[in-house]
Amino acid sequence: MKHIAIFASGSGSNAENIARYFEKSGIARVSLILCNNPKAGVLARAEKLNIPSKVFSRHDFYETDTILQWLRDAKTDLVVLAGFLWLVPKSLIAAYPGKIINIHPALLPGVGGKGMYGMKVHETVIQNGATRSGITIHFVNAEFDEGEILFKAECAIEPGDTPETLAAKIHALEYAHFPSVIEKLLTRD
Ligand code: GRF
Repeated sequence: MKHIAIFASGSGSNAENIARYFEKSGIARVSLILCNNPKAGVLARAEKLNIPSKVFSRHDFYETDTILQWLRDAKTDLVVLAGFLWLVPKSLIAAYPGKIINIHPALLPGVGGKGMYGMKVHETVIQNGATRSGITIHFVNAEFDEGEILFKAECAIEPGDTPETLAAKIHALEYAHFPSVIEKLLTRD
């Protein structure tokens, strides 16, 4: 059985969707949820799902090896960032080479980089007059949204679409694809 650790800072609907997908899987389980925001909705979801969770500070993340120790204790095979906003330190990337992935709620390269998260992404896509958006799942490196791309899925933007309706389309793509991309990655090695 492989072990997945998920980092999330917010609501955690993707974290929950991934956890439920693997609940009865013979391949993997979500074994740990890590969060930098003690008020984040993902922590209540972790409790409901019976998945251990840990909250950490900026100091823990950047100045100590606490997180690495937690990941090792949980026998982590794959680290998944699902709505996690901090840049991952080089030490963590070096400890899990090719084993840390992120989901971005737009098509990369393009609408990404520092500060490009949440509704800002969808507002920018609509303002640009784009006719398509989508999701990008990529390996994590030391820059925001720049790691090697693993998977993309697209949706159409219709004339009446708003950032809110686009966000709903993007979430639907995330729920439909993220768990199976994770599963493929875990079974290819
Ligand atoms: C998702 O749209 C994800 O692509 C982005 O942050 C959002 C997280 O949503 N990185 P949730 O917390 O999983 O509901």
